[in-house]
Amino acid sequence: ESGLITLDPGFKNTGSTKSAITFLDGEQGILRYRGYNIEDLAEKSNFLEVSYLLIYGELPTQEQYDQFANEITYHTLVHEDIKKILDGFPSVAHPMGVLSSLICSLTAFYPTSLDPNRTEEEIKLSIVRLMAKLPTFAAWAYKNKMGHPANYPDNRLDYCSNFMKMMFALPAEKYEVDPIIAKALDKLLILHADHEQNCSTSTVRIVGSSQASIYASISAGINALWGPLHGGANQSVIEMLEAIKEDGGDTKKYLDKAKDKNDPFRLMGFGHRVYKNFDPRAKIIKKAADDVLGKLGVNDPVLEIAKELEEAALNDQYFVDRKLYPNVDFYSGIIYRALGIPTDMFTVMFALGRLPGWIAQWKEMRENNEPIGRPRQVYTGANERSYVTMGDR
Ligand code: SDX
Repeated sequence: ESGLITLDPGFKNTGSTKSAITFLDGEQGILRYRGYNIEDLAEKSNFLEVSYLLIYGELPTQEQYDQFANEITYHTLVHEDIKKILDGFPSVAHPMGVLSSLICSLTAFYPTSLDPNRTEEEIKLSIVRLMAKLPTFAAWAYKNKMGHPANYPDNRLDYCSNFMKMMFALPAEKYEVDPIIAKALDKLLILHADHEQNCSTSTVRIVGSSQASIYASISAGINALWGPLHGGANQSVIEMLEAIKEDGGDTKKYLDKAKDKNDPFRLMGFGHRVYKNFDPRAKIIKKAADDVLGKLGVNDPVLEIAKELEEAALNDQYFVDRKLYPNVDFYSGIIYRALGIPTDMFTVMFALGRLPGWIAQWKEMRENNEPIGRPRQVYTGANERSYVTMGDR
C-alpha cells in the first residue's frame, strides 16, 4: 500500500484524539479537569463532584449533584451471582486481577451494553453501575486476599466512608470510619481522576473503539494500569523506599543504581512522559502526606527517606538533565499506608480514582463516533518463502 508510515514507538509524538476533558502543560506543570485547576478542585471539591465534572463537562448544581450521588448510592448492591465469581478466586489472587475480572463480568451480566445502538439512558445507567460497584468490588478483592467475609455497602455513608467500611469492617467488632481518613482518601481520588491520554486511558479508548462494552473497556484499562511503569509504580515506590530503609537509608547508593545504564533499577515514582517539571499532583500529595500523618499521629520513616531521595535527585545532574521530577506515585503510597491500606491494594486505589476519567474518555470517544483504532507497522520480517516439509528441515 503506498504512503509513508510514521513510526512512533510509545506514541511519544503522536496525538491519538481530540479531547475536551483534561488539559496538561508538561513544561509549566499544569493540570486542569474541564478547565478547573487541580489545586482548586483538590482543595474545594469532592470526588463525586469531580467525577460528575469529568463525565458531564460542568460542575453540577446541588440538584444534579444530589441526583448523581443518589443514583450511585442505590446501585451499590451487587447481584449475588457475581459474588460466586469472587468466591472462585483463591486468596493468593492479586486484588487488581480480581477487580478487573469482576468489572468485566458486568458485560456478561448486562449484554445489552455491547449493543452499538444502546440508548443514552442505558449508557448513563452503565456509568452509574460502574461508579457504584467499583468500590464494592475493590473492597471484595481485598477481603478475598485477607480470607475475611466480604462486606456489603452501607448506603447511609458517603462514597469514601462506605469504601473504607467495606474494606476494614469485621463481623466481630464495630467499625467507625475516621473522617480524617475518609477526607484524605477523597482528596487522593480527586488527584487521580484523569490525566488525558495516558497508557490505561488510551487502552480504554482503543478497546471501546471496537464497540466493546464500557465494562470490558474499563477492565482493559485496569489491566494496563497494573504495570509498574504506570499505576503499579505506587506499589513499587513503597517497596523501593522499604528496601532503602532496610539497607541503612543510603539514598545515594540507590541514586547511583538508578543512573547506572547496566542496572535495570529505576527510581520509581520519578519521571514522566509529559511533565518535565514538577507533577502538580506530587506537590499536593507531598503536602497532604505531612498533614495526614500528622493528624493521624503516624510517624513513617520512609516519608523522610522519600524527602531525602527527592532532594538528592533534584540536585543531581543526571536527573536534572533528563528533567526527572517526582510524579503522582512518589508520595501517594505513604498516605495510603497511613490510612491502613496494604501495599498490594495501592494500584486498586489508583483505579478507583481513575474510574471517572476512564468513563469520561470512553463516553467522549463514543459520542465522537471515533473509528476503530488500528495502527499500521513497518514490516521487518522474512521475505516471501515456500513451505518446507518436516523431513526437509
Ligand atoms: C503514571 O502518562 C501518565 O500520565 C501516567 C500517570 C497518570 O496519571 O496516568 O501520570 C501515572 O504512570 C506516572 C509514572 C509512574 N511510573 C514510574 O514512576 C516508573 C519510573 N518512571 C519511568 O519508568 C519513566 O519516567 C516513565 C515511564 C514514567 C516515562 O518514561 P518515558 O517518557 O518513556 O521516558 P524514558 O523511559 O525514555 O526515559 C528518558 C530518560 C532515559 O535515560 P536516557 O536513555 O535518555 O539516558 O530518563 C531516564 C531513562 O533511563 N529515566 C529514568 C527514570 N525515568 C526516566 N532514570 C531513572 N529513574 C527513572 N525513574
